[in-house]
Amino acid sequence: MKAIAIVGSPRKNGNTEILAKHTLKAIEEEGVDTELIRLAGLDIKPCTACMVCEKKEWCPIKDDLFPIYTKMKKADAIIFASPVYCGSATPQIKALMDRTGFIALWNGRVFDRKVGGSLAVAGRDSQNFTLAQLDFWFHQVGCFIPGSTGLNVAFGNEKGEVEKDEFGLKVVWNFGKNVAFLVKKLKT
Ligand SMILES: Cc1cc2nc3c(=O)[nH]c(=O)nc-3n(C[C@H](O)[C@H](O)[C@H](O)COP(=O)(O)O)c2cc1C
Repeated sequence: MKAIAIVGSPRKNGNTEILAKHTLKAIEEEGVDTELIRLAGLDIKPCTACMVCEKKEWCPIKDDLFPIYTKMKKADAIIFASPVYCGSATPQIKALMDRTGFIALWNGRVFDRKVGGSLAVAGRDSQNFTLAQLDFWFHQVGCFIPGSTGLNVAFGNEKGEVEKDEFGLKVVWNFGKNVAFLVKKLKT
């Protein structure tokens, strides 16, 4: 059993990564393997609507996407984590969502009935919109999204500031526990 978290911030070791690691720790404690995938430093280009994926489980754009798609396909749970950028998820994670979502759509809906869910970090605002934006992908691809004790959002600007958001940390921790619970239920 494995859960992966894909971090859409271009800033390594930033608040989003801290929040995602905290979530994965809660999952790992329950005996589910985890992996954090940072998009920072990777090349993830936007979809060009070439429609090659309609005929073949493949994307011809030469960049770092396909190995991540393969990991997503193998995982039992997928978590997206993004900082809010101008009221929205980052373009890096949106590009990944568009392309992996479309490859999956035309090739047997490979994410159907996996566990999924999202985390969003804001300096100040638009965290709920960004969370919904990320979560809609899981609805579209047929994943089960477990709840928590609140919305999976947290606040911070400077690197590490999110560690002061105790409520946000607790909510994503509880979300992680529910992810692990659901993965185990679905696998046994
Ligand atoms: C280009 C850019 C746009 C941002 N836009 C917003 C915004 O609209 N609302 C907000 O609350 N914070 C905004 N922020 C702040 C980030 O969401 C915040 O600093 C977050 O902690 C960054 O996460 P990271 O440390 O994982 O990169 C923005 C930051 C950047 C660099």
